[in-house]
Amino acid sequence: MKLHTIALGCQMSEADAAEMSLPLLKRGFSRAAVPDDADAVLISTCTVRDHAEHRAVSLIGSLKSWKDADPRRVLIVAGCAAERLGDSLRRRFPHVDLVAGAKSIESFPQLVERALGARFDGLAETRESFGEKASGESPSAVSSYLTIMRGCNYSCSYCIVPSVRGREQYRPAAKVLEEARAKADAGARELVLLGQTVNSYCSELAGRPLRFADLLRELDKTPGLERLRFMSPHPHYVDERMIAAMAECRTVCPQLHLPVQSGSDRILGLMKRNYSRASFLAKAALLRRRVPGIVLSTDIIVGFPTESEEDFKLTLSLVEELAPASAYCFKYSAREGTQSAALPDDVPREVKEERLARLNGLVGRLTAAALKAQVGRTLEVLCEERGFGRDRGGFKVKWDGTTEPGELVRIRITGAARRMLMGEADA
Ligand code: 5AD
Ligand code: SF4
Repeated sequence: MKLHTIALGCQMSEADAAEMSLPLLKRGFSRAAVPDDADAVLISTCTVRDHAEHRAVSLIGSLKSWKDADPRRVLIVAGCAAERLGDSLRRRFPHVDLVAGAKSIESFPQLVERALGARFDGLAETRESFGEKASGESPSAVSSYLTIMRGCNYSCSYCIVPSVRGREQYRPAAKVLEEARAKADAGARELVLLGQTVNSYCSELAGRPLRFADLLRELDKTPGLERLRFMSPHPHYVDERMIAAMAECRTVCPQLHLPVQSGSDRILGLMKRNYSRASFLAKAALLRRRVPGIVLSTDIIVGFPTESEEDFKLTLSLVEELAPASAYCFKYSAREGTQSAALPDDVPREVKEERLARLNGLVGRLTAAALKAQVGRTLEVLCEERGFGRDRGGFKVKWDGTTEPGELVRIRITGAARRMLMGEADA
């Protein structure tokens, strides 16, 4: 009994795939590297842009022959596109056994029970209650995802996430802390906290209210933990308390992925982002002052309805000023049911493409400069697999050596490739 999982889209989708694998692993499934070796395939889908949803749909279609080869096989489609398309997926693809949308992740174990019945139940007696653990496997044993909240209370006009994932829900702090300890005990040296607007997190601990900054301080005490990162924060909640916690906690890494989306106040207004260009840049400057050496990255959308060349130039100048080490840049994609889908998608495709290329050119130069600036330095690198790891700022580093995963090594950086640093272990 083997399970193959495919996660499309963001890190939340990856963490969800890991979480949804758990009830199957508890049934006795083990991992398969490819669908052909698997009895079950689980796809965690993404719908944030049209393109992502098309990928999910064509993947589901292409698995028809896999299912036909052995009808006992099980195909499970979950996540954001499953939430949005729901019944239409069931109708269009009768070879799918279970469609479980992103909002039903909490009840996923029961849905699997119902869909599979007694099939593939090798380990029924050892099945534990679910909900105790939010995330299963992560990018590496050394670095582990930990989902602390789901959903989003914002309504950015372009974004489908609030409608497919629902309102914010926070995992109780005691559970988060318990899981962090368990992961560190199992060998994780780095935790990456996940949530759609991760820093809006709030909970309580021992009868006292606990905000995101307090959670960082509590997690900082986790025995054996070396590093703490989180994504994606919302600029609105980047406040004094969060910045102080970042500056003061031993484990919190000087790295932040802070989506800006546009450099034009007019477009930010239409996007319903609740900050201005100036206030965003002021927060970035404060972060740089208080967290020395912080490595910033961002997300940007080009070609939002009515975006003019002047608006786009403001985005370019914001990026120059912010000088992020990297940025994910996207062409605007109108998502049905979002507020901005009611606006005319009036920036022609060629113009979107041309703006994206100009922006990516600038980002490429900034990334190259950020990498080059590391050459000659000695960085503390957490080894994730032999000869590969990341420094505290999040840069990927490769070196020749026999370091074991989980070890911290000092690497002298000798060169930079397109997205990666090369170095030598410091004797
Ligand atoms: N079109 C283009 N990009 C989008 N994003 C979210 N919704 C859309 C959309 N409709 C981008 C944003 C966000 C990232 C996860 O995806 O930049 O930060
Ligand atoms: Fe979407 Fe805005 Fe929520 Fe991010 S904050 S998930 S962009 S609605």
